[in-house]
Amino acid sequence: MTKPIEKVAIIMAMKQEAKPLIEEYNFYKLPKIFDEELPMEAYHIDKEGIDITIILNGTDRDFQLDCVATQPATLSAFLAVQHFRPDLIINAGTAGGFAQRGSEIGDVYVSHKYIRYHDRRIPLPGFDKYGMGNYPCLNASRLAQKLGMKLANVSTGNSLDITPTDLAIINVETPVVKEMEAAAIAWVAHLYRIPFIAVKSITDLIDNEQAVEQEFIKNLAIASNNLKKKMMGVIDYLVGKSIEEL
Ligand code: ADE
Repeated sequence: MTKPIEKVAIIMAMKQEAKPLIEEYNFYKLPKIFDEELPMEAYHIDKEGIDITIILNGTDRDFQLDCVATQPATLSAFLAVQHFRPDLIINAGTAGGFAQRGSEIGDVYVSHKYIRYHDRRIPLPGFDKYGMGNYPCLNASRLAQKLGMKLANVSTGNSLDITPTDLAIINVETPVVKEMEAAAIAWVAHLYRIPFIAVKSITDLIDNEQAVEQEFIKNLAIASNNLKKKMMGVIDYLVGKSIEEL
């Protein structure tokens, strides 16, 4: 007998990415859940018997900005596991896509097969593969099809821009989306053997003329709104299902 999913952790980096979903589903902030030195915040709902917690990376104390990229993502994932013991971890956020591979602004993708790093280059025997990570993710092709989302390999790095070397590594994959957290979270999920998927909404097209940062700012609201719509679908889809049924 397969067991229905009881607890889900959704890890998100930016407040603006999370706000539409938090508001639409009335997630409420859990008070004093993490050590007060940490920026992470937790928001919770019970959705028809499933405990769903959004763990937000929170605000950097020194810079007063959202904590983004792999450092906070790793810590959020660890806290999610320690505090909530989820049956499933989802990393929801935004990403860059490639127009030449069919991406459009506001498309929402689900991770496919594995998550890798494109900027951890360690050309030493064995460490080359270690650096790339290639952490597994759950086969969520049924979920993707049901909710009208595309599948893509997810490639993680710590920069919003891209170097020619990063691009050459990313170009091995198709389709692919580029973002800044998933591999860090997938690593923690892999350590604890917790199934993992990433859901990523496209804010910018890396292979067009415009500067990534301008496109990101311009399209963050539309991408976050589309992310909310698809994540609502994901949450509804999870109700009553086991991991094997996703
Ligand atoms: N998040 C949104 N767009 C991105 C990009 N181009 N690179 C990395 N992370 C992103």
